[in-house]
Amino acid sequence: MTSYQFPENFLWGAATASYQIEGAAKEDGRKPSVWDTFSAKRGRTLNGDTGAIACDHYHLYESDVKLMAALGIKHYRFSIAWTRIIPDGRGAVNEAGVDFYRRLVDCLREHGITPHATLFHWDSPQALEDRYGSWRSREMAQDFAAYVTAVVSRLGDRITHWMTINEISCFTHLGYAVNADPPHAPGTRVKSRKEVWQTSHHAIVAHGLGCQAIRAASPVPCSIALVDNPAVTVPIAESPEHIAAAQKALPTCWANGGILYPVLTGAYSPALLEQLGHDAPTIQAGDLDTIHQPLDALGLNIYTGTYVRAADNPSGYECLDFRDSYPRLNMPWLWMLPEALYWGVRHVSETLGRPDLPVFITENGCAAQDTVDAQGEVIDLERIAYLRQNLKAAHRAVEDGYPLHGYFVWSLLDNFEWAWGYDRRFGITYIDYPTQQRTPKASFHWYAECIRQKRVV
Ligand code: NOJ
Repeated sequence: MTSYQFPENFLWGAATASYQIEGAAKEDGRKPSVWDTFSAKRGRTLNGDTGAIACDHYHLYESDVKLMAALGIKHYRFSIAWTRIIPDGRGAVNEAGVDFYRRLVDCLREHGITPHATLFHWDSPQALEDRYGSWRSREMAQDFAAYVTAVVSRLGDRITHWMTINEISCFTHLGYAVNADPPHAPGTRVKSRKEVWQTSHHAIVAHGLGCQAIRAASPVPCSIALVDNPAVTVPIAESPEHIAAAQKALPTCWANGGILYPVLTGAYSPALLEQLGHDAPTIQAGDLDTIHQPLDALGLNIYTGTYVRAADNPSGYECLDFRDSYPRLNMPWLWMLPEALYWGVRHVSETLGRPDLPVFITENGCAAQDTVDAQGEVIDLERIAYLRQNLKAAHRAVEDGYPLHGYFVWSLLDNFEWAWGYDRRFGITYIDYPTQQRTPKASFHWYAECIRQKRVV
């Protein structure tokens, strides 16, 4: 019997993102992001929810850091809001915005918690959307790099773990495509599939320029990563033929071949380009070199996956749909498939040919219909069941020798779940939004015990 014991140096953490928790939308010079504008429009988010107040973390960060210390995490992943730092997207830096992150990071470090900062988690400046359509324009990549320089030159003395961009496929493909369900900000419908792919192309160029900007601006050696949400293909059974089928399916599943492939291998996957035909994005000379920057680590957000089997057809594989009765976790897309976490890590090593690249699970978690019971507790057993299975899959990846170095649970707090507003709770801490009271859920205590024992308990 395995005890699911993790190595001493395995890193345990929790993750959040600026727009989902900070609130204080108009404070200290912050200007709107596309999510402020989008969520304020009727019918864009469930119950008309917006991130204007969210978890009020902007004001409550000190008690939230105490909560992290109580949880026992030594690593915290959060994101920096572009419109706090450069409210108009380009131009003048707002030092009051920088100061908030300086205070947060200092507080983390006083509690022995290492900050891992994501430079962009979907909250594009509205000013740049108005100016040139944000990710529809290549200008966005240049403006992103200038913003990164502004942040890293100011905070690089206290932050050494940087993540450029979070989940490119979501804010590009779900932000602009006609059939995005549910749509994400800015919710602008572009006319063709080519234009959608062009937005994600601009975002991977931004990632590349962002990496260069971090290296140039950081006063000390630092770690740079991308955070991607690959569509993980999982063999229906672990036999050579089904494993080969899952590997073949990887590049054309969702956006993998146009995001993770160019970032890690320096080229769009030929299989994807063939499938896209005239809808492939325009790639300028030099772009692929810019995109293919040396990375110190890769962050993977993995929640679910897609089963694949070998098939007697020209492609040699078949991706299988889930039936409605298959177990899922309170989100339409969140099918219970813990093996995806293992296969996501393994694909980076084997299928994408990067066996030495350190990998972190930068998000993993689930939504649940949490309520506070008469004893004042939140007994989220389904979340514990989900996390336990997923951590076992993480353990297997480590045991098999893949370079999985750490795990960040999503999320420290219940928060603004984008188009789903506050209706879907992903936190291991319950938030009572009217009072902003924090109640650690049963999963919080369970995760704290895993961290203490460094194993799946
Ligand atoms: C991934 C995103 O990065 C995060 O913002 C979101 O809340 C979770 N998935 C859950 O949907």
